[in-house]
Amino acid sequence: MLKIEGLRKSFGNIHVLKGVDLELLKGEILVIVGPSGGGKTTLLRSINYLEKCNAGTITIDGKYLIHDGIYANKTELKEIRKMIGMVFQGFNLFPHMSVLENIIEAPTRVLGISKEEAIVNAREILNFLGLTDKENSYPYELSGGQKQRVAIGRALALEPKLMCFDEPTSALDPALTDEVAKVIKSLSGKGMSMLIITHDMEFAKKVADRIISIDNGIIIDAHMYE
Ligand SMILES: Nc1ncnc2c1ncn2[C@@H]1O[C@H](COP(=O)(O)OP(=O)(O)OP(=O)(O)O)[C@@H](O)[C@H]1O
Ligand SMILES: [Mg+2]
Repeated sequence: MLKIEGLRKSFGNIHVLKGVDLELLKGEILVIVGPSGGGKTTLLRSINYLEKCNAGTITIDGKYLIHDGIYANKTELKEIRKMIGMVFQGFNLFPHMSVLENIIEAPTRVLGISKEEAIVNAREILNFLGLTDKENSYPYELSGGQKQRVAIGRALALEPKLMCFDEPTSALDPALTDEVAKVIKSLSGKGMSMLIITHDMEFAKKVADRIISIDNGIIIDAHMYE
């Protein structure tokens, strides 16, 4: 689903990614751990073209995002980015919109789906996430775990093949962390691929098919971090 080879990224003369190689299979849950400042968020942002890299290759579902340092053209980039869902730390929900409105916002605006169809899809997602009774609630009326599930629902509404999470549990206490772990597990059961960054080793062990670590811009064996 995702293959990264020799990826390099610097900010000025600070080398943040120094030749990253990794592979993620369809339906696999890969967790990335590692010390602060190691380059995890930069890697995730690079996969979604929120950062531009200097060298290397990223292949997503057989399509090159960047090939030997050369980026795909605008049209291709758009197609590739559609395959990727991102859930960032801190949820980023629209506070003045209900749960349902939050979820239909992107499909209607980005994909041009009709409001009626988007609502049908959103209700299916809410059912899957166990949030059916919250569709008319506003973010401030939800617990942290519920907010995180809505944030996941927003990404799911764009029907990505690959979901990326940056610290999905950092704002959650342990019980709520389990809620998120369950959702991630059941999505991978449906064949969705997951790339998850976390500092929480307990959570990592709970959800991961495989754990790797990024330290100082390169992939190392996760044991070194434990
Ligand atoms: N826009 C930027 N400009 C300059 N340097 C940056 C920028 N973004 C990140 N960096 C640097 O790149 C390095 C890696 O940052 P990154 O956010 O990827 O680390 P991380 O592994 O996600 O850390 P954390 O676990 O604390 O979230 C850090 O040294 C950081 O200061
Ligand atoms: Mg980070």
